[in-house]
Order: sequence, then C-alpha cells, then structure tokens
Amino acid sequence: MLTTEQKKSYQQNGYLVLEECFSAEQMGVLKNSANNIVAEFDPNSTRTVFSTEDQTKTRDDYFLSSGDKVRCFFEEDAFDDKGQLKQDKSLSINKIGHALHQLVPEFKGFSHNDKIRDIALDLGLAKPQIHQSMYIFKQPKIGGVIRWHQDASYFLTTPISVVTFWLAVEDATLENGCLQVGKGCAEMPLKEQFKRFEDDTTELTQLHDFPWPDDDTALPLEVKAGTLVVFNGLLPHFSAPNVSDKSRHAFTLHITCGNTLYAQENWLQAPPSKL
Ligand code: FE2
Repeated sequence: MLTTEQKKSYQQNGYLVLEECFSAEQMGVLKNSANNIVAEFDPNSTRTVFSTEDQTKTRDDYFLSSGDKVRCFFEEDAFDDKGQLKQDKSLSINKIGHALHQLVPEFKGFSHNDKIRDIALDLGLAKPQIHQSMYIFKQPKIGGVIRWHQDASYFLTTPISVVTFWLAVEDATLENGCLQVGKGCAEMPLKEQFKRFEDDTTELTQLHDFPWPDDDTALPLEVKAGTLVVFNGLLPHFSAPNVSDKSRHAFTLHITCGNTLYAQENWLQAPPSKL
C-alpha cells in the first residue's frame, strides 16, 4: 500500500523507488530460476539466427514471435564471424523474454501477487494487466547500453497507461549500468512509436523532435537488490554499459490498464494476464 506522499511523488517525478520491497530470498528464487532457463537453453537452437544469409529477418522473427514464449536473447557481440559463441553461454545472454510471468512458475507466482497488484492499483491502473516480462542480465563487461527511450513507445494505449515495474534482483550501481531517469520529465511528450505492421515489418516512427535529456543530467537510480522501481510510460530512461565485473540482474513487468485501448500496432499482441 503506497502512502499519499509516495503517490504524490510518483505523479510529480514520473517514478518511485520502493526500497526493501522484496526479500533477498525472493531475489534468490528468481535468479535461480533464470539461471536454470539459461542452463537448459541450447544455443544451437537459435544458431540459424546468426548464420543464415537473411540474418535480420530471422532474428526479427525470433523476437516478434516471442510475446507468448520464454526465449533467450544473446548480447549483440556474443558470436564471432563463424557463428560460434565467444564466451560461455551463461555470460552471453542479454535477456529472457517475454512471457515468464505466464509460463515459469517462479516468475508467475512473483508477478501475480497482491503486492504488485496493490501498487498497480495505487498508481491508477484500475484494471491492471501484465503484457510482458523480461529477465535482464546486464552481463559484466559486455552488458551493452540501452539508449534513451520511453516505454509507452512499445506499449501504447489510449490514453497512455503503461507502468514499468523494474525490480533490482542484484544491486544496481553506476558502475554496473543502473537505470537512469530524466529529471523533470514526468510528462514529456511521446517521442517515438515502435510499430509492427501486418507483414511483420517494423518501424520506429518519430512523433516529436523533442530532444532526449543529456546523459549528464540524468538521475542514476543506484539501488539495492529487492528494490522495486516503478515508472510511467512517458518517463525517458536509459542505462549505460556495464563496465564492472559484476552482473546487474533485473526483472521487469510492463503493466497497462484494461480500461484503455491497446494499440494494434504494438509489437506484442499476445493476450495479457489480469492481475
Ligand atoms: Fe524501458
């Protein structure tokens, strides 16, 4: 249950940091589950993604059809020219997505609980529904940059409703590429829309030429494991590369309100789960 001050802070800043929201034990359960998925994953099953002539299309298909599946995605630099992993599989995965909350018991249980639901309701999502879940590894040394973006570009509803639940499974610091948010940007106009067309081509459409905040004006959210950060779909955010020798695991949920209209152009069209 959020306090009046917390709700006010979320409205003013576009985000809210909830420290010690979940226990170390709960983080351990999620981390083990994610590591097990990677351990069971056969990298050869997606080797074609990186060895066929039509690389881009095959890679896009692997992504675009993952909305109701549990799939591992490699870091961009994971493979060499011959399609061989440069380093151990466990250090090559960028993320797992996008239906952990529906298909993997540990993540399903974690996502569909009263705590998440109550926070969603308190933030104004009258009918909260989960569209997507991701487990992000941000690997030591190779975890790449995530450029400035707004999550409503990918989960557009009318009116805009998406709230991102970003859970630190491990400590997040400036060194290992913590989340960074724009200051005073709670209601920045939506700058881009990621569209998926009927033929499964995609496009990032520019809606405004409003500039992204400067990196050095961003507010780094250095948080301990178990902290939940929630932020609205218009809040610009990014994360720098992980230059440390520590991973920075995080689990994210994208939750919209069922009373809004979900855009037909959104890439993910799998049915959401009610909270
Ligand atoms: Fe994001």
